[in-house]
Amino acid sequence: MIFLDLGYQPLANEYLKNTNSKEKKYRLLVDFNKKSKIVSIKKKFSSKKMFKNNYPYRSSMSKTMTQSFKTFAKDLKKKFKKKKILEIGCNDGVFLENFNKSFSLGIEPCSNIAQLSKKKGLNVIIKYWNQRTALKIRKKFGHFDLIYSANTITHIKNLNDVFKSINLVLSDTGTLIIQDPSMLELLKKNAYDQFYNEHIYVFSYVSLSKLLDKHKLYIYKIKNISEHGGSIRYFIKKKISKNVIDKSVKIQLQKEIKFGLKKFTTYKKFGFDVNKSKNKLKNILAKLKNLNKKVIGYGATAKAVTVLNYCNIGNDIIKFFYDTTPEKHNKFIPGVKIPVKKYRILNTKEVDYAFLGAWNFKKEIYQKEKKFLKSGGKFITHIPKPKILSY
Ligand code: TMP
Repeated sequence: MIFLDLGYQPLANEYLKNTNSKEKKYRLLVDFNKKSKIVSIKKKFSSKKMFKNNYPYRSSMSKTMTQSFKTFAKDLKKKFKKKKILEIGCNDGVFLENFNKSFSLGIEPCSNIAQLSKKKGLNVIIKYWNQRTALKIRKKFGHFDLIYSANTITHIKNLNDVFKSINLVLSDTGTLIIQDPSMLELLKKNAYDQFYNEHIYVFSYVSLSKLLDKHKLYIYKIKNISEHGGSIRYFIKKKISKNVIDKSVKIQLQKEIKFGLKKFTTYKKFGFDVNKSKNKLKNILAKLKNLNKKVIGYGATAKAVTVLNYCNIGNDIIKFFYDTTPEKHNKFIPGVKIPVKKYRILNTKEVDYAFLGAWNFKKEIYQKEKKFLKSGGKFITHIPKPKILSY
């Protein structure tokens, strides 16, 4: 059942070389499946359409994520001493670089990004995650006791194939750890921009546990983390390896049921709130435009693509975006065609207000832009409600 209509959207990571570059759009509708409890976008693109050899997203572009992966890797290395680790969707190697090269393997389909991992000396196979890849890996490397995947599984259309493939390479006593945005946090924060073509699914414990059950897998521990605006780390095992179930699992289930994650009415209400959020953000920006304020965007994220296209915000309102990713520089944001510039520290001579495209890194950004904030510069956010942030 559809509960959210985010209008016509371009593919979020297809940055335009110039303003008259042609682009295809699709209708971004979001669905709640009453039976499986899975939340997904209606139009599902194949990995081949989205993850190619010119992918512009690098996981290591924020200190927050680099540090988070480092800390978690340290923790895992202690618990899984000398165990082989496989990462599905290793991007530029920001997580895997923390492991001994002879015990780790990464899978990454975007060849330009995989090359960045390889330059770090990591073992990376440039392939999509599917059963064929899994069989090849098993033949060459055997089973793995530890499989990790952050912000990747939810990007793959065929979830049954994903878990069948995992079952082929995970050892019987092995651990699978999946890390993805949390549906509960998304609803709490009104973070509708977590929906775009790459985020095909947003998991909750309720939906993921049902799906895993079909594949003879189960969640034995849960950790809520602040990454990407609120994510969950799910610790998973094969059913044949009987493990004690941590109390965190029951706590999460109760929280999700209490919030109404099993009920369509909860999602429907969220849909109404999103529409209100759009009007409010447009009003704030229109007022600033009338006052001739210099407004720019900070962090040309895929999330911002959803917001800008849904709210129809163009470069008459937001002049340009600053972003640290080289692959995005001197290009234009899909759909709304706002230019993306190489990041420069904010200066009140040039900028009055900056719209936080990367709201999930607010803390890190505030730290960097102290001078701007102290001299009266301001940020605008839409999370959890559109407003001009006070310092
Ligand atoms: P994400 O929210 O999907 O991870 O994307 C973050 C984007 O924001 C990425 O393009 C890098 C960019 N960014 C900046 O430009 N400056 C920053 O300080 C941070 C943390 C991210």
